[in-house]
Amino acid sequence: MRLSARVHQRPAYDLQQASGDAKSAKIPNVKQIAILGSTGSIGTSTLDICRLYPERYRPVALAAGRNLDLALQQCTEWRPTAISMADEQLAGELARRLREAGVTGINVLHGTAGTVQVATLREVNFVVSAIVGVAGLQATYAAVCAGKTIGLANKEAMVAAGELITAAAREHNVALLPIDSEHNAIHQCMRGGTPAEVRQIWLTASGGPFRNTPLADFERITPAEALKHPTWVMGQRITIDSATMLNKGLEIIEACRLFDLPPDKVRVTVHPQSTIHSLVEYVDGSILAQLSVTDMRLPILYALSYPERVPSELTFDLAALSHLEFQQPDLERFPCLRLAYEAARAGGAHCIALNAADEVAVDAFLRGTLSFTGIARTIERVLESTPAVTPGDIGEVLTIDANCRETALGVLAGVAVSR
Ligand SMILES: NC(=O)c1ccc[n+]([C@@H]2O[C@H](COP(=O)([O-])OP(=O)(O)OC[C@H]3O[C@@H](n4cnc5c(N)ncnc54)[C@H](OP(=O)(O)O)[C@@H]3O)[C@@H](O)[C@H]2O)c1
Repeated sequence: MRLSARVHQRPAYDLQQASGDAKSAKIPNVKQIAILGSTGSIGTSTLDICRLYPERYRPVALAAGRNLDLALQQCTEWRPTAISMADEQLAGELARRLREAGVTGINVLHGTAGTVQVATLREVNFVVSAIVGVAGLQATYAAVCAGKTIGLANKEAMVAAGELITAAAREHNVALLPIDSEHNAIHQCMRGGTPAEVRQIWLTASGGPFRNTPLADFERITPAEALKHPTWVMGQRITIDSATMLNKGLEIIEACRLFDLPPDKVRVTVHPQSTIHSLVEYVDGSILAQLSVTDMRLPILYALSYPERVPSELTFDLAALSHLEFQQPDLERFPCLRLAYEAARAGGAHCIALNAADEVAVDAFLRGTLSFTGIARTIERVLESTPAVTPGDIGEVLTIDANCRETALGVLAGVAVSR
């Protein structure tokens, strides 16, 4: 284990801008894309973009988890070189269904090794990293080490191993292009000045469905209520994380790593309209904001086309904009945000613990064995028992992650409540 050190070099988020001309000159007209998490919310939106711009983006490799029906449909439509499923049984079943459907020439892989293979195929030059959770970490890291440009949605990989990923990105001259709408907005606003000219950045948060719910009612919040996000349609984990505001906490850590900023320069403001996706405040007092429709296809298109901008029909009606609100986040209602700042300051294993404990706790909440407020309590208990170490490689990250999950399950055995 080594101590963490912030590296003061050109940040990984604008490496492509630094080497952009030479690099983009080598990219063929059609970008050959691997989509990790092709059956998820981000994955299917990425495929929508591929459908809209067939002359620019072609999905040549896919990785999915357990959704066989959609994986089959995607193979039939896109005829990728390879697809990976979460495990061997699912891969076998998909291969059988493909044979039955007369679809040939697709290499059906499985597990982490399969996802890594998909992410590092020679013909792939852009990887959309959109598997949910730490399950996406190894393939994302392998893609960076293989020199692929990354469109990064899988924030958990950055939270668990951001320092290792950004170091590898610098070493291999790979751009990490954020797809998360807030980081994508920051990336866009960062083009207005140099990294040294940034005073601080502001991540906007919708505040989720319980922004105005009395604190006394939080204990009784059900999964069905928490899954109703006011402004975005997303996967289950990120939707629950938005309701607890742990998602914003993960985004704070993701932003620190992506933009090479300390936690006290990454601020959060609650902005219920979700119109401004984030802001960068410069040393002269100017604040640049990015506004657009709440449609993830826009940040995906931006990442895929960077450093160019590609015309789209995603317009934003300024005339319909009546007011913009900004509020301080309420740390009493949303203790996950406080815990995330603590983890961001501690770094290393504490960031891994924050995410691992949350993955276990959200799963228990969705299964009805943990209360809504139990999510933060579980994370806090796991953080308290996490030693202050920093992993030196991905293997150590995964070991710490596994230990934290075990601790979280132990905590749950004590704090679980029957619903
Ligand atoms: N959705 C958004 O608007 C949004 C915005 C910003 C950032 N993000 C981030 O993007 C990532 C994906 O979010 P999402 O909302 O798209 O999630 P989602 O809809 O739940 O999709 C998750 C994807 O990961 C796949 N997957 C899960 N476990 C896997 C495994 N072990 N091996 C291979 N694939 C696996 C799923 O496959 P199956 O469905 O086939 O099981 C699915 O394709 C998350 O990190 C999230 O925080 C999402």
